[in-house]
Amino acid sequence: MTKINPICVALDTPEVGKAVALAHAVKPHVGMMKIGMEFFYANGVAGYEAVACEGVPIFLDLKLHDIPTTVAQGLLSLLKLSPAPAIMNVHCSGGFDMMKAAKDAVGDRVKLIGVTILTSLSNENIWTTGFDARKTDEHTLNLARLALEAGLDGVVCSPLDLASIRTSLPRKFLTIVPGIRPTDASSHDQKRIATPRAAMAAGANFLVIGRAITSAPDPAAAAAAILESLQ
Ligand code: C5P
Repeated sequence: MTKINPICVALDTPEVGKAVALAHAVKPHVGMMKIGMEFFYANGVAGYEAVACEGVPIFLDLKLHDIPTTVAQGLLSLLKLSPAPAIMNVHCSGGFDMMKAAKDAVGDRVKLIGVTILTSLSNENIWTTGFDARKTDEHTLNLARLALEAGLDGVVCSPLDLASIRTSLPRKFLTIVPGIRPTDASSHDQKRIATPRAAMAAGANFLVIGRAITSAPDPAAAAAAILESLQ
């Protein structure tokens, strides 16, 4: 088995009771829990603390994207949560100055991660936002490099972007990878996806897995099976 359990389960629900029950059920099989905007906007600090009480490190996935001062101050407010999240994130497209201000504000109190290009965007979707979709790889790598230069600890990226990031950037730069689907699972709204094993082989540090675990008839068994597939 890998030394650190790389599975980060995404507790995407607005209901505290459901999130806590899920957290409790899957915690023997995961290394981290992700709280995102669906849960945090509905339940705030109290909801966060109810999940964090389960004792598994928390990735607070709020994807901040604003001017440098606002993002830096926002992160400082979030750092007052107890226990503090292990990981928080900002959008790389907020630019170098924003990422640097964010990192300068939080220092080493939390791992700060940059979101590159969302795994729900196909090449056509990327093209409609005005970017050259033929250069998605190049664009992702450019955002990741900017994040590294700004002092961030790593990036969120698609499994399909891992090869270029691992070839070009230092190995200690963390990669947190959503868009993970066991072979028999539905892809839902995700487009640039891979299996847990393929993503780990390509160099992922953490696998963000939501519906493949949380919508399974037995979430604990689903998490255990994914962990087993990594051995
Ligand atoms: O259910 P599924 O495994 O697709 O959930 C993926 C999770 O990862 C969601 O919580 C989503 O917000 C998050 N995420 C993502 N793509 C990113 C960043 C985060 O899917 N680029």
